[in-house]
Amino acid sequence: MSNSRCRAAILISGSGSNLQSFIDQVADGRLELDIAIVVSNRPDAFGLQRAANAEIASVCIEHAAYPDRESFDRAIANALDEYSVDLLLLAGFMRILSPWFVKHYEGRILNIHPALLPAYPGLDTHQRVLEAGDEWHGSTVHFVTEELDGGPLVLQGRLPVTAGQNAADLATRVQALEHQIYPEAAGLFADGQLRFCNGNAMLGGETLNEPLSRDFE
Ligand code: GRF
Repeated sequence: MSNSRCRAAILISGSGSNLQSFIDQVADGRLELDIAIVVSNRPDAFGLQRAANAEIASVCIEHAAYPDRESFDRAIANALDEYSVDLLLLAGFMRILSPWFVKHYEGRILNIHPALLPAYPGLDTHQRVLEAGDEWHGSTVHFVTEELDGGPLVLQGRLPVTAGQNAADLATRVQALEHQIYPEAAGLFADGQLRFCNGNAMLGGETLNEPLSRDFE
């Protein structure tokens, strides 16, 4: 990867608004990487249309067609083989990856999770934040390990929880910041500053003990 642009695969299951932010930032030169392939596990994912509109290769591999998690994951890896990808970006990809897949791409998978990890792994994060009465919420980019939403943290976008907002309002605000922080984190990987080493996120050769943090309105 050292002398050429980083080649990314983006894995989706749905709308693909994060995929769109990557497409837009690559197109206008803010993000220097190539989106080599978009992978969806759902044929009706709108993100596939976004990929087609941008003339990016895509493939749909339906998990229901495979007997278990690992055989599905191996089918994805087979599809990725011909695209020589350096980085996998999970962008609303709603499947838990097998230990085999995580090991196969160790240190090369990033995910974005709509909470300030390690708080609120899993689903329904916006509602859980509201019920807890938290003052801050946001989203986290992290390396993927076998532990669900548990890999080393890279970059967080934070916003204050506003009185009177419901979970849908919060989701909208969180998604808007995701569209900035996820390309930023991918850019750090693409230019070689961000790496995964011995279970840690490293930035510029230093261990990231705390994730980078950006505040939003
Ligand atoms: C994002 O909110 C992300 O945090 C979560 O899934 C959502 C995907 O949204 N992992 P989109 O498909 O990119 O619009």
